Amino acid sequence: MSLTSEVQSMLPDLDGFAYFQTSGFSPKLTPIIDEVIRSLRIQSRGPALPFVARKLQQQMQETRGKVADTINATPEEIVLTENTTIGINIVANGIDWKPGDNVLLSTHEHPGNRLTWYNLTGRYDVELRFAPLYNDHDRTLEEMDRLIDDRTRLVSVSHVSRRTGLRLPGRAICDLAHAKDTPVLYDGAQSFGAIPIDVRHLDCDFYSFCGHKYTMAPQGTGGLYIRKDRIEWLKPSWIGSHSQKSFDQDGNMDLLDEAKRFEFATRSVPDQAGFGKALDIWAGFGWDKVFAGIAAYTDRMKSALSEIPGLVLETPLAYDDSSGIVTFHVPGLESGPLAESLQQQEKVLVSPLEFAAESTRVSTHVFNSDEDLERLTSGIRRIQRDGLGSAN
Ligand SMILES: Cc1ncc(COP(=O)(O)O)c(C=O)c1O
Repeated sequence: MSLTSEVQSMLPDLDGFAYFQTSGFSPKLTPIIDEVIRSLRIQSRGPALPFVARKLQQQMQETRGKVADTINATPEEIVLTENTTIGINIVANGIDWKPGDNVLLSTHEHPGNRLTWYNLTGRYDVELRFAPLYNDHDRTLEEMDRLIDDRTRLVSVSHVSRRTGLRLPGRAICDLAHAKDTPVLYDGAQSFGAIPIDVRHLDCDFYSFCGHKYTMAPQGTGGLYIRKDRIEWLKPSWIGSHSQKSFDQDGNMDLLDEAKRFEFATRSVPDQAGFGKALDIWAGFGWDKVFAGIAAYTDRMKSALSEIPGLVLETPLAYDDSSGIVTFHVPGLESGPLAESLQQQEKVLVSPLEFAAESTRVSTHVFNSDEDLERLTSGIRRIQRDGLGSAN
């Protein structure tokens, strides 16, 4: 059986939709849902029962280990979180900001990697800088070089742009920033599970990501990688029970040495067990095969879209510069009504992008079929030929 058929056989009922929204939220594979339920049943027997407590702790540690393996980190460098944005907040609120400091973002960032920083401007008088992103990496690097100065305390940018799927030159950005003593946080929401990640090779200081997109793990799962030497450097802005090695009644405490110090209080273990199961499934297929499958489908999508007269691809053509996202526009056609019409007439799910009236994002995964792609392209041709249709 092909990888596509195997993954399709684990999909829940998508109600006949061609699902091109994985970069928003993926559907969840049945064995992942089953694992969540299995863990929930164990937990619900009574988390205080010794064998249950042991099992829940073991599930968290297993998922931590699997996450670490996926990105070439160690388990000691991983905080299990509920989403990408929490990891970004842990970093943003863990720096000793001084008035006049600045942080470098890009113009493509999601609200999760924007509002977190907007929030600091009022509190600490931190300046925000926005690097424009170009499909030409040299131009992007030149802009970043110009914008990073001796008051830049952090570069916080997407590893893969949610807008166009552009894969940023991860290692080169770290080299540039580190040469100026500036640490780098990657927002990995769109790269984790979509393209190979090796945090050692990237040489980033922090990498925050979620489970609910390309790994198809439950909503409410994610992680933050903190490079070993940055764990002490980052001030704990929120901690609690389980962050500590020891504490006394007089106000003294000794925190865990590991990144786990940022993970505290009662957590949803069943969701994290589901996250671990998702990583097992992809590792079982072989991550290389999965990445190659996403790449091949995305290439087919780019070719098919390129054949539509008047359609403009915004995503770089070279797969090494892109990921599972393909963004396009048809001049004169607004993306909101286009997406609505595709949904109503062809049962095709794509997403319009904010701040760009005509840009539409299509995100692919190995479960998408050639028939899904055919429906998308014939839907766009229909709209070009006949207009948006009765739904609009
Ligand atoms: C690049 C990027 N960053 C952050 C987020 C927010 O993710 P989360 O809900 O996991 O915080 C998204 C979600 O679409 C995203 O695309």
